[in-house]
Amino acid sequence: MIDDALIAKAAAVLKAGGLVGMPTETVYGLAADAGSSAAIARIYAAKGRPSDHPVIVHLARVEQISDWAIDIPDTAWTLAEKFWPGPMTLILKRAPHVLDAVTGGQDTVGLRIPSHPVAHALLAAFGGGIAAPSANKFGRVSPTAAQHVRDEFGTAVDLVLDGGASEVGIESTIIDCSSGPAKILRPGAITETMLVDALGDEYWAVAALYEETHKKIREIEQRALAKINRGSAQAQENSPRVSGSLDAHYAPRTRLMMVEAAKLAETLAAHSGKRVAVLSRIKPPAPFAGHWALAASAPAIYARELYAHLRDLDALGADLILLEAPPQGPEWDGVNDRLRRAAFGSGDAQP
Ligand code: TXA
Ligand code: MG
Repeated sequence: MIDDALIAKAAAVLKAGGLVGMPTETVYGLAADAGSSAAIARIYAAKGRPSDHPVIVHLARVEQISDWAIDIPDTAWTLAEKFWPGPMTLILKRAPHVLDAVTGGQDTVGLRIPSHPVAHALLAAFGGGIAAPSANKFGRVSPTAAQHVRDEFGTAVDLVLDGGASEVGIESTIIDCSSGPAKILRPGAITETMLVDALGDEYWAVAALYEETHKKIREIEQRALAKINRGSAQAQENSPRVSGSLDAHYAPRTRLMMVEAAKLAETLAAHSGKRVAVLSRIKPPAPFAGHWALAASAPAIYARELYAHLRDLDALGADLILLEAPPQGPEWDGVNDRLRRAAFGSGDAQP
């Protein structure tokens, strides 16, 4: 099913410093040669992304990580064995030759071996590392289909490989293994529980850290939800951006509000006369002038469908997207993280 000629063409585009829309199992990436500062500069220009943000380097095989990273701890090898190829990115100490354009000038590098067969074929054909952030404009919803990438970038991307709908649907779990105990920087399909299982004896160190981090995350979540529940765009715009935790991201243009299931009815009533689009796991309790999309009840399926739902609902041009807050728990961490940020950055509160 892999079109070898097309893969060879895409690899040639990368070698010539061009940009390729690359399907992965998480989301589509905007791919460029990780060994070329000029090619990476094109990614930043196309995305409208600040150039001090690091990009993930994608590789074909586990052995390649020692070409890109140094002082790789046992924890990282354990995780690599267990979860690669797959939806996990490891942050490691950078090897000296890794470009500042890749690392954002930091002393670490993010590495990932994707499992999508098209990504794998492209990586094998290209031979080197492929830098690829998610193929969306900076701060916006990530793409989970080839058409999303075409819609977002048009002719700014030289070639888009169509690998079907992304199976995982949200970006990889990012795990920092560059110093101290491994810690999750961005939750995803590889959950805290899976990480703890994989690390076995090292669990004690990691678990202590999780407890602390998660307590903080819950507090932030509660505060964000309380603020969003108050329901005014004004309140949202004036909220402090909690550094590194609540920055706007993954955001639709329509204002997005997240409420507990029990509050759906009263929130809809409070917005009568407005055009409201709803994404919920239950049917909205009252009739309303809007559109309803059914959200899945299983976290993996919810994640897979989330960004496509957000794009579809955004395209309706409603006054508000009202979202039933999903449950809590480790397997929902990835989804809740994205939704919190999406709500925070929605309604054109940022560029
Ligand atoms: O699933 C994914 O990870 C997708 C697919 C295409 O692989 N890629 C992706 O890339 O989500 P991006 O650039 O949208 O998000 C990568 C995140 C950014 O927030 C970036 O700051 C962080 O990874 N990152 C990359 N290198 C890092 C490093 N050395 N240290 C800390 N964070 C890093
Ligand atoms: Mg991204």
